[in-house]
Amino acid sequence: MASPDSRGTWGSRAGFILAAAGSAVGLGNIWGFPTMVGQGGGAVFVLVYLFCIFCLCLPILIAELALGRRVQRDPVSVFATIAPGTSWWLVGALGVITGGAILAFYCVIAGWTVAYIWFSLSGAVSGDPAEVAAFFARFTASGGMAAALGLGILLVTAGILLGGVQSGIERVTKVLMPALLLLMLMLAARAFTLPGAADGYAYYMRPDLSRLFDPAVFSGALGQAFFSLSLGMGTMMTYGSYLRKSEGIGAAALWVVLLDTSVALLAGFIIFPSGFSIPGFDPSASGPGLIFAVLPQLFATLPGGALFGAAFFLLLAMAAITSTISLLEVPVAHAIDAHGWPRRRAVLVLTGTIFLLALPVALSQGAVPTFTVLPGLGIDFLTLMITIWNNFSLPIGGLLIALFVGYVWKVDQALAELTLHGAWFPAPRLWSLLIRFVCPAAILVIIIAALRPLLGV
Ligand code: PHE
Repeated sequence: MASPDSRGTWGSRAGFILAAAGSAVGLGNIWGFPTMVGQGGGAVFVLVYLFCIFCLCLPILIAELALGRRVQRDPVSVFATIAPGTSWWLVGALGVITGGAILAFYCVIAGWTVAYIWFSLSGAVSGDPAEVAAFFARFTASGGMAAALGLGILLVTAGILLGGVQSGIERVTKVLMPALLLLMLMLAARAFTLPGAADGYAYYMRPDLSRLFDPAVFSGALGQAFFSLSLGMGTMMTYGSYLRKSEGIGAAALWVVLLDTSVALLAGFIIFPSGFSIPGFDPSASGPGLIFAVLPQLFATLPGGALFGAAFFLLLAMAAITSTISLLEVPVAHAIDAHGWPRRRAVLVLTGTIFLLALPVALSQGAVPTFTVLPGLGIDFLTLMITIWNNFSLPIGGLLIALFVGYVWKVDQALAELTLHGAWFPAPRLWSLLIRFVCPAAILVIIIAALRPLLGV
């Protein structure tokens, strides 16, 4: 078993925040968030999402980071160390499996963004409204290409992980994050000037309160919030395990949440005003193809749009890779810490296994658009994966982490870790209340409400 000191720590607090933000910011913000807003009915989804982020996810993010730094091991060992001889290690195991499963569909979508770098440059995807959506459907139907690109993403991820913790992740993110933000701000400004933009803002910001208590909106928003923050599966625990004892967890968590949420909101400020400038645009109709249908048209309105498009998809692909690194790092850290595997073997074996899981995702897009999973419910394979892993597995993981910290590790122990060396941690009592009562109860209610229609009860 590797000792904590041989695992490496972050170069600096900024380095940790960048890396954790690098994990959080990715396809979840720029592809997932607008897609889910489109399916969740616009502004009402945004409202519920913000509630989930600040009231349910932020407290759990703090808990995950604290657990990771306390034990300084992979998620399975974290639970086994604090509660030896119990079944709590299974929560860590669920996270290890979830990480692999999410990566299996994540790498395919990241592969799409790589293809769009080329499509933007070569002019293959036009700005013609009738053509862009059809182009996306044709492209994703060619499953072999999507599989190859997904494999490419996995191999790059594996290559970076073989380089160790610091050198790989920190370096990439430091340059990437500001560049991505800058380009997104420019695109949001351009979208502001398009005809029809006002309808987009209304859709995005004026909530239809009749859907406020729709279980599907809550379940989608909660799953999206967990997914976007890389929460509920041990990623943040793993990252916390590399955090120095002298760093304040509260401030780091708040930074990560603010950055991640700003990028997601900003993505909406690009997609919806541009989308509504397209005649006949229906945000709920394009599903996973939403950004791939809207963005090429936005780029077409820009001078030098091909270059802007290519730059944007390149940055998005890079942001996706800083997330895939953290997805793969969870099972890898587990194999190293708990099973004593050399890093090289862990990375190679796991990458291969995940590629096999990615194949059905890549090959089923477009070619087999829908199939019936549960009686009366026709959903495609990608949606099925997102439902299982984002909407159920991550929140269940988060629920169990909250219970574990609240009742097994106990909030006093957690608070001792959070305020170590006099670190800034405001509202410790509010946090204790949220982690012990509010988070578990709210997540449980949302999960049950979401399960009922699926099970037909
Ligand atoms: N948070 C990442 C994103 O938004 C995805 C992710 C989920 C990464 C879970 C790690 C763990 O793209």
